[in-house]
Amino acid sequence: MPKIILIGFMGCGKTTFGKLLSNELNVPFFDTDALVEDKTNKTIQELFDEFGEEYFRHIETDLLTEIKKEQQFVLATGGGLPCFGTNMDTLNQLGDTVYLETSVDELHRRLTIDSSNRPLLDSSCLHELKGTINSLVKTREAVYYQCHHVLKTDGKSPKELLALLTNILRENRTKS
Ligand code: S3P
Repeated sequence: MPKIILIGFMGCGKTTFGKLLSNELNVPFFDTDALVEDKTNKTIQELFDEFGEEYFRHIETDLLTEIKKEQQFVLATGGGLPCFGTNMDTLNQLGDTVYLETSVDELHRRLTIDSSNRPLLDSSCLHELKGTINSLVKTREAVYYQCHHVLKTDGKSPKELLALLTNILRENRTKS
């Protein structure tokens, strides 16, 4: 029963890749950002603006209890979710965690094109964006690396990533 959890910084491709992977494995796809928005009937931007980040983090954490009930899934997590409280431990117990590791240059390129609905990047003017990404990645990386598997995404298409991850998971199944 596959339970795969994608973690990584904003813009690393968790949602795009997650949808592709869930199709391939024929299991449901969940995205914590979308689940938070459905649950509260507000956008992430509105939640940050009206109630602040801490409130948003509580909702994210509560969602993990609900996801535990699912038998199989691919889950894309918000970039900050693993880094709060004991969420990374919870994710590691929930299933196979996969860190989509993307360089700061590539994240910067992608987030320059689209940083909408990402309040943590809001206050950075374009020329400060790279510095903001760099310092956030630095504070989060140690947590991301607690994952079960790392997939380096730079220069790889979603299809290439799919082939890589499928192999990793197959090898893992053979070992256990
Ligand atoms: C956040 C990442 C966002 C979203 C929120 C906070 C973060 O999700 O959860 O804006 O703290 O890195 P994505 O990683 O899907 O952009």
